[in-house]
Amino acid sequence: MRARVPGDKSLTQRALILAALATGESRLTGLLHGGDAASTAGALRALGAEIPALPPDGGEVRIQGVGLQGLRAPTGPLDLGNSGTGTRLLMGVLAGCDAKAVLTGDASLRQRPMARVIDPLTKMGASVQYLGEVGRLPVSIEGRRPLAAIDWPSPVASAQVKSAILLAGLTSGAFALVTEPRQSRDHTERLFRSVGVSVVEHPVAEGWRVEMRDPPETLRPLEFDVPGDVSSAAFLFAAAALGGAGPEGITVERVGLNPTRTAFLDVLERMGALIDIEMEGGSQAPDQEPVGDVSVRPGGLTATIVGGEEVPRLIDEIPLVAALGARAKGTTKISDAIELRAKESDRIDAVVKNLRGLGVEVTEYQDGLEVQGTDDPLRGQVRAFHDHRIAMSFSVLNTVRSCDIEVDDRAVAGVSFPGFWGLMAEVERARRRSE
Ligand code: S3P
Repeated sequence: MRARVPGDKSLTQRALILAALATGESRLTGLLHGGDAASTAGALRALGAEIPALPPDGGEVRIQGVGLQGLRAPTGPLDLGNSGTGTRLLMGVLAGCDAKAVLTGDASLRQRPMARVIDPLTKMGASVQYLGEVGRLPVSIEGRRPLAAIDWPSPVASAQVKSAILLAGLTSGAFALVTEPRQSRDHTERLFRSVGVSVVEHPVAEGWRVEMRDPPETLRPLEFDVPGDVSSAAFLFAAAALGGAGPEGITVERVGLNPTRTAFLDVLERMGALIDIEMEGGSQAPDQEPVGDVSVRPGGLTATIVGGEEVPRLIDEIPLVAALGARAKGTTKISDAIELRAKESDRIDAVVKNLRGLGVEVTEYQDGLEVQGTDDPLRGQVRAFHDHRIAMSFSVLNTVRSCDIEVDDRAVAGVSFPGFWGLMAEVERARRRSE
């Protein structure tokens, strides 16, 4: 079967922010029409940006930018819902603006660590107050222009931290240099280049370094067709690898294939799936996002080991690797992934509890887990823990004929993947046709 997935969540939120800050009219297509995109768009509107409703079909959205200093203080708190990316990126934007704003979110977001972003922004000169528990939302943030230049050694490989610092430098006109222990996704760097911001990046002994030394005073408008989200496509790839769509597998068209995001495909191939990639021409430049069609066909899956440098390149797909590990021959080992404990849920805990509940043998570590593959039918209820990726990772196992798993909260998938359940039903139909 052939399919498309909704627009990339990371790129959609960055594109909306940069279009709002540009001078002139940006034209965006393929934007995600999901919960997180809606949260970020809503917050930008509350800050005075004119963002039209995001169409469900990815149709064109035109945004008249307010300029780098054009955002205004909102009249009430900004509610970012479930969106960690929206929250942290907007903290960076606000740090360099003449506006005071309170940011908050849903119960899951209010549990997530914010000091990793607030600390560098405070060091640059932004004034931030925690309104509840220290290190958590809600926070009040008051920007300043200019902020001090910063050279920040980030202890975590986090694109959200890196991007917040770069955005603070951009809105306040300050140098922003960041070193991270391993390279995290580089969407902000690529989009910055495409709106006229010069960013240099290179490996260093401590990891990966990104330098923005000369922030411009205005941004060019953005013309961007957001590719499908490879993290959403991953669920279809996994279903295809398990044989869920029959021997022909699944081709997902126009998926983002940024190399900082594609390690799940490497892992799936290592586990035995058959993968073909057809890159779209003209998307390889450093200010563009690589895009292609990806076909995955089933292969007998064997266990694998995931850790080290690979982890940031598939951080959002690790719960899915663990779920696949339950159907792979041998023991799948995941390490160096302590960051999973700070996502929309504690994803190590969520995966371990759900796998155990299904009767799978699992060992939990602080930074990962080991899963023992089994051929036994997996049946029962799993909990989503208010986390879209946990709900979707386990439901993929339902594409194995002997498995019957019920997810307690299906609606949560809409955060990043509206239409997910419909596509899973299509996968099932494709398998039935092939039988
Ligand atoms: C994201 C970065 C990652 C990822 C999240 C989206 C982004 O988080 O898990 O889903 O768009 O920058 P961290 O930067 O915290 O690792």
